[in-house]
Amino acid sequence: GKVAVLFGGTSAERPVSLMSGNGVLAALQSIGVDAHAFDPAERPLQALKDEGFARAFIALHGRGGEDGTIQGALEWLGIPYTGSGVTASGVAMDKTMTKRVWAAEGLTTPQYLALSRAELTRERIRQIPDELGLPVIVKPPHEGSSIGITKAAGYSDMQGAVELALGFDDELLFEQCIEGPELTCAVLGEGEGAVALPVIEIRAEAGNYDFANKYETDTTQYLFGSLPAALEADIGRLVLHAYRLLGCRGWGRADLMLRKADMKPFLLEMNTSPGMTSHSLVPKAAQALGIDYPHLCLWLLSQARL
Ligand code: DAL
Ligand code: MG
Repeated sequence: GKVAVLFGGTSAERPVSLMSGNGVLAALQSIGVDAHAFDPAERPLQALKDEGFARAFIALHGRGGEDGTIQGALEWLGIPYTGSGVTASGVAMDKTMTKRVWAAEGLTTPQYLALSRAELTRERIRQIPDELGLPVIVKPPHEGSSIGITKAAGYSDMQGAVELALGFDDELLFEQCIEGPELTCAVLGEGEGAVALPVIEIRAEAGNYDFANKYETDTTQYLFGSLPAALEADIGRLVLHAYRLLGCRGWGRADLMLRKADMKPFLLEMNTSPGMTSHSLVPKAAQALGIDYPHLCLWLLSQARL
C-alpha cells in the first residue's frame, strides 16, 4: 500500500527533518515503495486516512514529531508507524526525564540539575558551577541537534547560556561536563530482540560536535572500531539496557560521552527518530554491517506498527 514519509514539521529541527525525509523518500522510491512526502506542518493528518495511506515512516525530529504527539495521532487514525510508541517517545524527548529513568536503574549518566525558569535567579545560576564544576553543559531538555546547548566554560558564560536555552524550554538541564570523546550507538529492534550496531566515535573540530559540525561541515571524523573490543561490547550492552528501559522499539540512537580518565561511558540521551541525513550516524553504522540506506529504510518500514 501507499506509504507516507512524514517530514518537515514545526520544531526547531525542521531543516534537519527536511534532509532526513528527502533522503528516506528517495531511498524508498528507489527500491519500488509507493512512498509520498507528507509534511504535517502543511496538511491535516486526517488526509493520511482519507488518501488511503497504509503506513507512515516518521522522519520528523523534535517536538511534535519525536515526542509521542504524532505517534498518538497515528494511533487514533489506525495507521501503523515506524519507531517507538507514545510513551517511549515522550520520555526520550525529555533529556531530564530520560536521565531520571536511567539513574533510578543505576545506569551511568552525568550528574545534573533541573531548574525551572522561576528558579533560575542570578543568584541560583551563579551556584550551578559550584555544584557541577566547570565547564557545565546547559541544555534545553526537549531539543535536538545541539540546538540551544552551550558548554559554559566560566561563570561569565552562564547567564547567556541560560537565556539562550530558555528560548526553547521552561525548565533547563545542567549537566556535569564529561571530558573525553563523544560516542554514539544505534539500536535496531525491540525488547529481547533488539541489537546494538557498532559504536561510532565522533571527532569534531575543536572537540565541538555542534549543529555546524553535525550537518554543515565535512571535517568531523567518524571512527569505527576505535575502542578496545571489551569496552565496545560493554557499551553495546549498556545502550541496549538503556533502550529497553525506555521501552523503545524499531530503532533508536544513544549518545554518550566516554570519560577519558578511566574510559567510563556516560549516557547522555536516546534519540527515537534519529537523523537520516547524508551526514547522519545510524546510516553509517548500518552500512558498517552491510545494510545500505535503502534497505535500512525498508527494514524500518517493515517494523511499522500501532
Ligand atoms: N536529533 C537529530 C536528528 C539526531 O539525533 O540525529
Ligand atoms: Mg537528540
